Amino acid sequence: MDSHSFLLISAVIFLSFSLYFPSKAEATFQFSGHPNKLLTQVCKQSDDFGFCMEVMKSKPRILSATNIRTVANFALAVTRKESLVTRNFFNRLASVAKNPASVEVLKECATYFNETVGMLNLDGLEGGTASLDVHYALDNVQFCENALAGAKVGSGSISAAIGGWKKYFSVAYATVEIIEDETTSVF
Ligand SMILES: *[C@@H]1O[C@H](CO)[C@@H](O)[C@H](O)[C@H]1NC(C)=O
Repeated sequence: MDSHSFLLISAVIFLSFSLYFPSKAEATFQFSGHPNKLLTQVCKQSDDFGFCMEVMKSKPRILSATNIRTVANFALAVTRKESLVTRNFFNRLASVAKNPASVEVLKECATYFNETVGMLNLDGLEGGTASLDVHYALDNVQFCENALAGAKVGSGSISAAIGGWKKYFSVAYATVEIIEDETTSVF
């Protein structure tokens, strides 16, 4: 083998390994001794694999979960909690805002986030509408964003609060989509 072929083959092998471990978070997780395929599947489907794994790692019971419903109920619960945190955030902003139009739109957002609590559940599974139902929560947050944009109300902390909620939502939504896929494949 000449040196060119050797270099080429080495490069191909190196690239194959890099592709095999697409993200650092995933590689770390696999080496941590908990290769939970279910969680990897959920987190790959979410917007942010690393964030999703951090959420899962916050509970040992979830880290070793083998049932997607257990993971979904957990992810929905933490997202509902985040909805309340975000609702309180907007109510707090409303209580200190000076401009009446801003106060109104901030309260509106608090209401939209409060409403998402009633949407983040698995009630729609039997009727096959779970992911649609859960998606209404994201629509609500879009309504809040539209209202803010319409009133030209915004700040870094508002974007961070909404973006933070969306990261949790994306984890919960991934679990619901996976359950729904499994449920439909049974029939
Ligand atoms: C949030 O929603 C619940 C149930 O829909 C309602 O009873 C409660 O008053 C609301 N809380 C706030 C702070 O808006």
